[in-house]
Amino acid sequence: MSRSALAIVLAAGDGTRMKSARTKMLHEVAGRAMAAHVVDTVSRSGVDAVALVVGRDGDRVADACALPGVALETYEQRERLGTAHAVLAARAALERGYDDVIVTYGDTPLVTGETLAKARAALEEGDDVVVIGFETETPTGYGRLLTRDGALYAIREEKDASDEERKVTLCNSGLMAFNGRRALELLDAIGNDNAKGEYYLTDIVEAALAKGGRAGVVMADAEEVLGCNNRAELAELERIWQARRRHELMLDGVTMIAPETVFLCHDTIIGPDCVIEPNVFFGPGVEIADNVTIHAYSHIEGAKIAPGSKVGPFARLRPGAVLHEDAKVGNFCEVKNGDIGVGAKVNHLTYIGDASVGARANIGAGTITCNYDGVNKFRTEIGADSFIGSNSSLVAPVRIGDHAYVGSGSVVTRDVPDNALALARGRQENKEGRAEMLRARSLAIKAARKKDGGK
Ligand code: UD1
Ligand code: CA
Repeated sequence: MSRSALAIVLAAGDGTRMKSARTKMLHEVAGRAMAAHVVDTVSRSGVDAVALVVGRDGDRVADACALPGVALETYEQRERLGTAHAVLAARAALERGYDDVIVTYGDTPLVTGETLAKARAALEEGDDVVVIGFETETPTGYGRLLTRDGALYAIREEKDASDEERKVTLCNSGLMAFNGRRALELLDAIGNDNAKGEYYLTDIVEAALAKGGRAGVVMADAEEVLGCNNRAELAELERIWQARRRHELMLDGVTMIAPETVFLCHDTIIGPDCVIEPNVFFGPGVEIADNVTIHAYSHIEGAKIAPGSKVGPFARLRPGAVLHEDAKVGNFCEVKNGDIGVGAKVNHLTYIGDASVGARANIGAGTITCNYDGVNKFRTEIGADSFIGSNSSLVAPVRIGDHAYVGSGSVVTRDVPDNALALARGRQENKEGRAEMLRARSLAIKAARKKDGGK
C-alpha cells in the first residue's frame, strides 16, 4: 500500500475505575503496558507515524510506548473534553497531511493489524470515514451504529439515544479510520451539544455525510475490540491475549499439554518441537530454540535456551540464564546470570548465580554458588568436564578447573586447578562400639525417669 498513514492512539483517559495510583494505560497485558500493545500493532500495520495522546502520567506512558524503530510523537491533552478533542490534540500531526488517519484507543490492546488494514482498504475505495463496529448482546454503554438500508448514517452515544436506538446491537468499538485529507475539516465541524457536553469523535460520521462524504463500517470480533475499565476487564484481556498467543505458538509447532495453564509474555519466543508441560510461567525476555522441554511448574524470565535443553520440573531461570545445547537444569534449581555449558547437568536443588558452568560438567545436588557477601557480587567459574560433589558451597570469586573434582560437602574458597580433587570438609572419624554405649545410656535415663513417676 503506497498510501501514507498516521495512527493516533488515544491514551489520555486515566481510568478511575482501575482504582490505581497509575493511569490504566500503564497496566500490563502479557507483561507490557496496554497502550504499548496498541502502538506496536499500529506501527506494524505500516503507518508512517504514530501520535500518542496522553494525559495523566504522560511521560511514563510515552516511555512505556517508546518501542524500537517506531516514530512516536507525544501530544498532551490537558483537559479531557471528549474523543474528538483528544484526536485534535494531535493537530500538528494531522496538519502534515496523510492519506489515511487511524484512531485507536490505548485501552483497547487486542485490535489486530488485519482489522486496521480492512478499514484502510475501505478508505482506499472511497469512504471518508470507516468505523470499526462489532455485534454484542449486551450493548449498554456503547455508541450504537445507526444504519438505513445497510448504510451508516450516525453513531448515537448511549446517553443521547432514544429507547428505540438503544435496542440496536451493532456497536461502535471506538476505533475508526478517516480520510486524512479531510480530517481537520471534519473534526473542526464537531461541536459539544450533547448529553455529556463533550466533543464526540463519533459525530464525524454525520459531519462527513453533511459535507457530501461517504461513511462505512468494517466489522471486528467483539473480543478484539474489548476495552478496559477495571481490573476484571484487565484479567479478561489477559485471558484472551494468552489464548490467542498460545494458539499461534501451537500452530507454529510448539506442543502444550495443558495450554490454558501456560502463561506467556508479550515477547516470549519458543521454537518448533518444544514441549511445554503444564503450569509454566514466562516473564519478559525469554528466547527458546527448537526441541526444548520445559517440565511442569517452571518459572522462566530473561533466559536464553539452546536446542535440546531440558528445564524443570520446578525450575527457576532468572535474567541472564543461558543454557547451551543439551543442557539440563532440573528440579528446584535456580539459575541467575549464569551460563550452563553444552551438555552440562544441574539436576537437583542447586543455585547457580553469577557463574559459568563448563561443557559436560555435572553439578551435584544441593550445590550453591555463594555469589554475594552482603555487599558485592562475585563470579564462579566451573570448568568443563568437572564434577561438583553434592552439597558443596563454592564461595566466589572462585574457579574450579577443567576435569576437576570437588568432594561432596565441600566449602570451596580457593581456586581448584585443572584435574585436581578438592576436599574442604571435616575428616570422618569412626568410634568403634560408641553407638551401643550411647544407646545404653539413653535407655538407662528413660528407665530412671519412669521410676520417679513420669517426667
Ligand atoms: C467511546 C465512544 C463510543 C464507543 C466506546 C467504545 C465516543 C464519543 N464514544 O465511548 O461510541 O462505543 O468508546 O469503548 O467516542 N479519551 C481521551 N481523551 C478524552 C476522552 C477519551 O484520550 O477526552 C480516550 C480514553 O482514554 C479512551 C478512549 O479515548 O482510551 C475512549 O474514551 P472513553 O471515555 O472511554 O469513551 P466511551 O465513553 O467509552
Ligand atoms: Ca470506554
